[in-house]
Amino acid sequence: MNGLVVYGTRYSTAEEIAEEIFRILKDGNVDVKLFNANEIRDNDISTYDLIVVGSGIKMGKWTKESKNILKNILSNKKKLRCLYLVETPT
Ligand SMILES: Cc1cc2nc3c(=O)[nH]c(=O)nc-3n(C[C@H](O)[C@H](O)[C@H](O)COP(=O)(O)O)c2cc1C
Repeated sequence: MNGLVVYGTRYSTAEEIAEEIFRILKDGNVDVKLFNANEIRDNDISTYDLIVVGSGIKMGKWTKESKNILKNILSNKKKLRCLYLVETPT
């Protein structure tokens, strides 16, 4: 299985969480890549079996890059397994 962990962040917290998820998947022998959502082009996601999308939230909003990734997953014809996370530490 190959996987992608992708995050959108404004203040770096989502990046730290994504890095931890990336390490866990890697240790579980998933062939996994880690990207900031602003580094992913539209057609890149179709090659992955599993996608984890994370985003920080500000004034109730995801980053626009994370939202675009989710829209791309929904419009992708290939069936993808996707987990999404919104982190809001207090
Ligand atoms: C200006 C500002 C607005 C925020 N708005 C929300 C919000 O509307 N809802 C929420 O649950 N958390 C909110 N938070 C908390 C952030 O989600 C939290 O700080 C998170 O770690 C930010 O993620 P990031 O560091 O990956 O950008 C806000 C934080 C800041 C600084």
